[in-house]
Amino acid sequence: MSMISIFIVLLSLYNYVVHSIPPPYSSFSKIQLPPRLLGPEAVALDPRGGGPYVAVIDGRILKWQGTEFVDFATTSPRRTTQLCDRTTDPDLGPICGRPIAFSFHTITGDLYITDAYLGVHVVGPNGGHATPLATGAEGIPFRFCNGIDVDQLTGNVYFADGSTTFELRNITQPSFVADISGRLLRYNPRTREVKVLLRGLATAVGPAVSLDSSFLVVSELRAQRIQRFWLRGPRANTAEIFLNVQGNPNKIKRNPFGEFWVALNYQYRQPVVVNVPQGVKFNALGTMLQTVDFGTQYVNTTIQVVQEQGGALYVGSRIVNFVGVYM
Ligand SMILES: *[C@@H]1O[C@H](CO)[C@@H](O)[C@H](O)[C@H]1NC(C)=O
Ligand SMILES: *[C@@H]1O[C@H](CO)[C@@H](O)[C@H](O)[C@H]1NC(C)=O
Repeated sequence: MSMISIFIVLLSLYNYVVHSIPPPYSSFSKIQLPPRLLGPEAVALDPRGGGPYVAVIDGRILKWQGTEFVDFATTSPRRTTQLCDRTTDPDLGPICGRPIAFSFHTITGDLYITDAYLGVHVVGPNGGHATPLATGAEGIPFRFCNGIDVDQLTGNVYFADGSTTFELRNITQPSFVADISGRLLRYNPRTREVKVLLRGLATAVGPAVSLDSSFLVVSELRAQRIQRFWLRGPRANTAEIFLNVQGNPNKIKRNPFGEFWVALNYQYRQPVVVNVPQGVKFNALGTMLQTVDFGTQYVNTTIQVVQEQGGALYVGSRIVNFVGVYM
């Protein structure tokens, strides 16, 4: 072998090793919310890399401007600053709004939002009052909207309604555990129609559309599994079990390389209950690629979203007063 070919072999070996070892995400920093604000459950950067944007417990969507958060958007027309700003009262959710998940449409820059109480909304790149798009399907109002993803190729909006009975403020009720009324839905922005794609889900969260738009994945929190729903091809409009997980899977987000991150909360007794929050990465074949443990920074704390953007993991939690950034 010539020196050149040895060099090429070494270079490809190097490339292989570098690209097959995922980053450990061992460095951690916090983006602190303004005083007395909690629960950045939804976290995302816009298509230009601006933000992150967060949805907090008092019903506002805020945008990080590099040094501080500014108000970006709201969902509820009944919201007043006086009544709602900085409230932590769950019973004000239906009045103040509670945006819980979002997804940017890359081409338009529009932000599609699910509000746990008020359904699906959209707001333009300049923010402000979001426009309501859907509040129910098949005559059944949404009770607990969660998880949303825009199909970047078709513009269709996929989202989950966790339950047709229980709301976000009801989830600590013992009977919620047995609820299997969750639905997976699609909003078509051209016809403005909402279609139920799957029903009977054990707390539907997720969903996330695959890079080629051929399928989506949706999590069933209580069933500790992820289903795959086919959007195109011979199996279109059918679903199958995609992945069983150890713990309660929450929202799923796709990264630019077509891999998915699910926010997972794993509980064990020792002897009291301890919650271990994790990010689990899997590919379009359903192979688990990586597990990142957030327990050191989120001690006994549940998380709801893990969003990989620009090489970093942005972690959203309903409970804490910061956005966690792992690099
Ligand atoms: C959810 O909570 C609200 C407010 O406390 C209550 O009025 C409603 O009945 C609860 N729903 C269920 C299904 O328990
Ligand atoms: C973890 O949190 C749960 C629920 O808030 C609580 O019941 C439990 O005691 C906590 N565990 C520890 C070790 O602090």
